[in-house]
Amino acid sequence: MSRFNKHFKMECNDVIAYVKEKLTIFKQDAILEAEEIGDGNINYVFRVWDRKTKQSIVIKQADKLLRSSLRPLDVDRNRIEAEVLMLEGKLAPRLVPCIYKYDSVMCIVVMEDISDHSNLRKVLLERKIFPKFADDITTFLVNTLLPTTDIVMDSSEKKDNVKKYINKELCKITEDLVFTEPYIDYKGRNIILEDSIDFVRKELYEDKDLILEVGKLKNNFMNNAQALLHGDLHSGSIFVREDSTKVIDPEFAFYGPMGYDLGNVIGNLFIAWANAVVTNKIQDEFTNWIAKTIEDIITLFTHKFIKHYKEIVTDVMAKEEYYMNWYLNTILSDTAGIAGCEIIRRVVGDTKVIDVTSIKDIDKRVKAERMLILTGKSFIMNRDKIVLGKQFTEIFKMNL
Ligand SMILES: Nc1ncnc2c1ncn2[C@@H]1O[C@H](COP(=O)(O)OP(=O)(O)OP(=O)(O)O)[C@@H](O)[C@H]1O
Ligand SMILES: [Mg+2]
Repeated sequence: MSRFNKHFKMECNDVIAYVKEKLTIFKQDAILEAEEIGDGNINYVFRVWDRKTKQSIVIKQADKLLRSSLRPLDVDRNRIEAEVLMLEGKLAPRLVPCIYKYDSVMCIVVMEDISDHSNLRKVLLERKIFPKFADDITTFLVNTLLPTTDIVMDSSEKKDNVKKYINKELCKITEDLVFTEPYIDYKGRNIILEDSIDFVRKELYEDKDLILEVGKLKNNFMNNAQALLHGDLHSGSIFVREDSTKVIDPEFAFYGPMGYDLGNVIGNLFIAWANAVVTNKIQDEFTNWIAKTIEDIITLFTHKFIKHYKEIVTDVMAKEEYYMNWYLNTILSDTAGIAGCEIIRRVVGDTKVIDVTSIKDIDKRVKAERMLILTGKSFIMNRDKIVLGKQFTEIFKMNL
């Protein structure tokens, strides 16, 4: 009887045995080797390769317990990840890894090895420039989001999809870590530098107007089942090569507001920019590129969205131009609000990013944190007026 008829957390030797028993990807005489390459908090990721031909694949396994804290987490996230990657592969070809197999018993996704791409967060810290990035990520966003809405799909089929992608436990993580704890630290998990405590208290914990606006964004996240989102599109979920972009890890996918994905992309670019500002000269090739990339992302998203909208929207009311303009404006407003929430939570919450934590000089880090918090607040409070990329970058520059 197969060892793989009941879920268990695999080690490298189990993964090799699994590949031999279950997959036909490698030749019979392959000499298989494997290593665990996961660097996240949640799952286990294995690279498996044939020593002779160098052919390789990646196997991602969800365990019932989180990789970092060993707390339980619903493994249905693995099904959602596999199904969404397959759908995204159809809607945005070449912008996600190919999926070779999903195993619902072992909670495994077998996929293309994209090790020839680099983690966007890491390469931004090395000040590398990716001229194709704005074009690729906006194609990914428009092509994966708009077709999943009920202004394009049959509304009854869309409702079935909403049910299929209910992602209770992972959404709860976002509701807490992004929308609640940075403002009301009810679980006592925020991690704040001694030198920033007074600033955070005044600018976040005691700012009732801000907390109300974040509450509205949280309500929108929880109740606006607009499109099937990636749900965790920070720069650690994006892999780049000079000529290619790949998005991974949609395990937080669910039906929510489109601006959540776009806002995550934009927000994380500002965090990388803040790192560059405090550790480098303010104006250099990299910071000019990142500013232009943020502006281009908003412009390209808008243009591609309008073009695709006119091509594929089926709902009779939504076909009206005034409806389209209203709909797009709500997405851009959500984008600004979410970018602000993402920026703030990465500074004060417990899932920080290396763009912030790698700044060893405390004065520089405090400076980066303050400019990010003020920028994030301004995005949230002014979100209804922000529709152009230049407005985003000007707000950041005002807080330098
Ligand atoms: N298809 C792939 N090809 C090559 N490397 C990959 C692939 N998928 C994942 N990885 C590597 O494994 C790492 C972790 O992957 P991923 O982010 O999907 O895991 P995770 O456990 O869901 O992480 P998180 O805690 O951030 O949610 C990536 O940063 C990347 O280095
Ligand atoms: Mg993940």
